[in-house]
Amino acid sequence: MNLMITKKIMKRGWLKVMLKQQDQADGIRRMSKSKPVRVIAVASGKGGVGKTNVSVNVGISLVQMGQRVVLMDADMGLANVDILLGVYPKYNLSHVLAGEKTLDEIMVTAPSGLKLIPGASGIQKMTELSTIEQAAVIRAFSEIDQQIDVLIVDTAAGISASVVNFSRACQEIIIVICDEPTSLTDAYAFIKLLNRDYACNNFHIIANMVQTVQQGRALFQKLNKVTDNYLDVTLQFAGAIPYDEYLRESVKKQTPVVIGFPRSKSAQAMKSIATKIGNWPLKTQAGGYIEFFIERMVKYSQKDIA
Ligand SMILES: Nc1ncnc2c1ncn2[C@@H]1O[C@H](COP(=O)(O)OP(=O)(O)OP(=O)(O)O)[C@@H](O)[C@H]1O
Ligand SMILES: [Mg+2]
Repeated sequence: MNLMITKKIMKRGWLKVMLKQQDQADGIRRMSKSKPVRVIAVASGKGGVGKTNVSVNVGISLVQMGQRVVLMDADMGLANVDILLGVYPKYNLSHVLAGEKTLDEIMVTAPSGLKLIPGASGIQKMTELSTIEQAAVIRAFSEIDQQIDVLIVDTAAGISASVVNFSRACQEIIIVICDEPTSLTDAYAFIKLLNRDYACNNFHIIANMVQTVQQGRALFQKLNKVTDNYLDVTLQFAGAIPYDEYLRESVKKQTPVVIGFPRSKSAQAMKSIATKIGNWPLKTQAGGYIEFFIERMVKYSQKDIA
């Protein structure tokens, strides 16, 4: 009897060792297979300042530069990237979480070549996933990393836990501001929260709906002055996008401005921002791989409910 128990324990011990080795082997295989992907969050604090238009148009511009780009709609309340792109996805991330679809099956490719991961309320379920489900989601994302160069995460308005978790899981954070006092105070509040609570200290700023590039730069400097005085952060000016009726028109037509009005001022600005992003140094250390983004996202949301 005792001998049997000892054997069982030994067996379990071996099993544990074997499983651990298998885990490590999987990890190494994954690492050697995967390549760094730029994972960029687009946030703002205040709503309606142009996050989704920036995500879509900068994303398409990157596609036009030869990059393979996936845009993830992380706005759970008002998922609207599909509307701007004029595509009608049947499935979303909740179907991947439920194990009904693979990530490849839910991704929709817009005519511009930009790929979309439709968000919907499924993402919120990240907080309720079991360890096995989490692993499945992470695997689903690791499998697409061969096919993409950039993942853009369009977040919702506000500074809810979900927006914060998405943003801090990304390697790069773009904050869109416009010339309104509440846009600056909300952007500041968001930066402060990410810096104070999560040690994020690098942010890229895009000034949208400005009259001139100078006005955009002045807006950036206004925000930079306050963060310099009170926080330990570095803000970088990623560019300015003029207020442009063509952009409004493109929203109505459900055709992104860089496609519908490629010579318009806003389209030109989107393209030069994309060129800048294309020149950002690629982060190759841990965290530059897409599965780490998802791992972090799952981990952070788990902490939230703990
Ligand atoms: N450069 C611009 N010129 C003119 N209008 C603009 C510009 N950028 C954005 N807009 C207007 O602002 C509206 C909101 O833009 P968008 O949906 O991209 O903002 P958002 O930050 O994603 O909003 P939300 O916080 O609700 O997600 C657009 O429908 C458009 O009418
Ligand atoms: Mg939006």
